[in-house]
Amino acid sequence: MTALLVLPGDGVGPEVTRAALRVLDALGLSIELDHDLVGGAAFDAEGTPLPARVLDKARRADAILFGAVGGPKWDDVPYPLRPEAAIIGLRKQLDLFANLRPARVFDTLADVSPLRPELVRGLDLMIVREATGGVYFGEPRGIEHLADGTERGFNTEAYTTVEIERVAQVAFDLATHRAGRVASVDKANVMESGMLWRRTAQALRDRDYPAIALDHMYADNCAMQLVRDPLRFDVILTSNLFGDILSDLAAACTGSLGLLPSATLGPIGPDGRRAALYEPIHGSAPDIAGRGIANPVAQILSLAMLLRWSLDRPDMADRIDCACEAALARCRTADIATPALPTVGTGAMADAVIAAL
Ligand code: IPM
Ligand code: MG
Repeated sequence: MTALLVLPGDGVGPEVTRAALRVLDALGLSIELDHDLVGGAAFDAEGTPLPARVLDKARRADAILFGAVGGPKWDDVPYPLRPEAAIIGLRKQLDLFANLRPARVFDTLADVSPLRPELVRGLDLMIVREATGGVYFGEPRGIEHLADGTERGFNTEAYTTVEIERVAQVAFDLATHRAGRVASVDKANVMESGMLWRRTAQALRDRDYPAIALDHMYADNCAMQLVRDPLRFDVILTSNLFGDILSDLAAACTGSLGLLPSATLGPIGPDGRRAALYEPIHGSAPDIAGRGIANPVAQILSLAMLLRWSLDRPDMADRIDCACEAALARCRTADIATPALPTVGTGAMADAVIAAL
């Protein structure tokens, strides 16, 4: 039987995850669920954000449904024990190198974007962010004391050919089943790692993906284009740090962080299996946690990605996608409220999705 590891985490993580599991339940699949602690919740209970037991379960699970981690409560915790170290650690330990962050605008929601509706209507782009390399993990890193009594903080941006190739391949494969366009984003004008990124992506395209239209863009220009003309994009391929920044920007273009799911995938093993973690991109939102008002749609759509990518059930994933769109045409959570529709809480939004299934 399929085994799913559920890691609700902190803040609104548990409430949106509960809502998504109700949707899973309504689908009537036979899936074994195991819940455990992660992030600040694990730190409070066990003194570490990613207990060895949880990492071990994560390695064995068919897929991981992750809520969110972090919050002001742990602001003074040292860096390696902070809640965020759990998600960074899971990505690294499970080699989850390909972070897929779709930004879609459902037709009923073009009016909630801060951009003019005609700029975003029909938006459907996919950011493929490298997630186990770059400046997040590069060595050397640290803060050192200088002779004059001041300090120097430093990190290293580094990418190997193999790291670039494997994530570029994911982007090209995705684009093959979409509009066939990839924008590879770097700062090759100032960084050697970006120069290698650009050269490697182009060589892979020329060798294996002649039908893909590959553009190269500098990250600053990409940020501007995302706001000026987001519809021009199909797949955006980029590094860990630029992907972190650009995916928040793309999310904001859709109007609500509460709508966007993500998948982070590992390499495909010899047995055809791949480690995979699914999470909403909104984070723990401590300001609204525990009030039952968080938008569960991002986590419900993460569940749909899980069905599509890990359980080979695109039919179920499509059903959930359509049900979310239908539910959003009937009611809204507070983050995307409109006078024309009733404003509901987390549970009632999940009810509406289930009713639409
Ligand atoms: C994200 C988050 C994480 C990141 C944080 C929580 C470490 O911002 O998934 O985008 O920077 O990768
Ligand atoms: Mg981020």
